[in-house]
Amino acid sequence: MKKRYVDPFTPDLPIDSPSRFSGRVKEIDSVVDSLFQLANSKPKHTIITGDRGIGKSSVLVQVKNIAEGNLDLVTRLGIDPGENSYDFLCAWHDCATDQTPADLATGILKQLKTSLENVLGKIKFEINFAGFLTVSQKEDSTISSLSEVVDLFCSEIMKAEKEAKDKNKSGILLFFDELDRVKSGSGVATFFKLSAEKLSRDGAKHVSFFAAGITGAIQNLEEEHGSIYRTFKDVPLPRLKFSEVEQILEDGFQLASCTYENEVIEKIFKLCAGYPEPVHLLGSQILKSDLDNHLSIDDFELAKVEVVETLRRNKLISMLKKAGSGKYQKILEAMASHDNPNVPSAYISEKIGYKPNEYSTNMGSLIQRNIISSVDRGVYCFVDPLLKEYISRFGVISAKDENSSEIEA
Ligand SMILES: Nc1ncnc2c1ncn2[C@@H]1O[C@H](COP(=O)(O)OP(=O)(O)OP(=O)(O)O)[C@@H](O)[C@H]1O
Ligand SMILES: [Mg+2]
Repeated sequence: MKKRYVDPFTPDLPIDSPSRFSGRVKEIDSVVDSLFQLANSKPKHTIITGDRGIGKSSVLVQVKNIAEGNLDLVTRLGIDPGENSYDFLCAWHDCATDQTPADLATGILKQLKTSLENVLGKIKFEINFAGFLTVSQKEDSTISSLSEVVDLFCSEIMKAEKEAKDKNKSGILLFFDELDRVKSGSGVATFFKLSAEKLSRDGAKHVSFFAAGITGAIQNLEEEHGSIYRTFKDVPLPRLKFSEVEQILEDGFQLASCTYENEVIEKIFKLCAGYPEPVHLLGSQILKSDLDNHLSIDDFELAKVEVVETLRRNKLISMLKKAGSGKYQKILEAMASHDNPNVPSAYISEKIGYKPNEYSTNMGSLIQRNIISSVDRGVYCFVDPLLKEYISRFGVISAKDENSSEIEA
């Protein structure tokens, strides 16, 4: 029996430890610059965007670590922090579906109150939650009530900023993860724009927003309000390079005291197409499949089958269903038959027998539904690369399967 080990891979959690965070030098440099500007009274609101599972929350967690004074990652990546250290007061809110601007404002203020009271010791920091309640109970949730929310929010934030400065903090950072979950039309994009403008007008120079969200959904918010990208500096996250995936796997295998064949790393990289989440999933599974502390191609094949046929099966089937029927399935089938994860539209056209303009709306919908992602003009890939493997094994949902609740293996 293999000796029990602590699983070094975290497919379900953002990376917290700076030592386990791989790559992203350019993006970390960009977010550190936002911190540096803020520390020097030039607030730069920043949004991290990218596909589902690309690593947005992980970047946000690293920004929080750096902002609270942990420079390990910055040092390891050889990035100039600009300051000896940072000591920001941080508050974090995970957005949820159906949340309004008032929900976001009260959610983050609650967190800010806790962070601030930790610094203030016994002193309480009171927030006017009753004011928000009054506004949100009003009959019409129009722009006028939105500006009341903004006024209330900004005045509470400015009170907190003053307290933070009195305690020698560098300033305040407000993190909003999963911004893609809020509905377009909820007024959230306008809320950020108006709040950013008001804070700037009122001289709050030590407060800034750090948000994260899936590219497509953020573009939806942008279309509604045309203001997200004017309020926030966009830091898009690309897929990981081979060396970055290699580092995640090497570190993990070493922590679990396993040796490995180099080909295992190459195979996992190819299968995962630069997305870190399946890398963790396969890393975790290959350690389980292995029996002799040496990871071989056979172990990889076992892990791949287990992941695609069991662990991920339900999720992949529901993604296929979500994609839509008919032409949508044909497109996915064509994409799965390409050798490379990046599929040019010329190849899809040849396979399905339509010209690109005859299915461009379908491609747009598949992107909106988070099934595929646009890599470049006219080049696409699967957001979950394991879907390609699933389709290669089990095929897509054919017209005859559509009435049955499960597709047959
Ligand atoms: N730079 C990185 N180095 C190592 N692992 C990473 C890195 N970025 C992300 N991961 C891993 O990839 C997975 C997804 O990361 P994360 O949760 O940060 O992505 P996300 O974009 O926020 O996902 P979602 O769209 O579901 O919110 C996690 O398992 C995380 O541990
Ligand atoms: Mg996330």
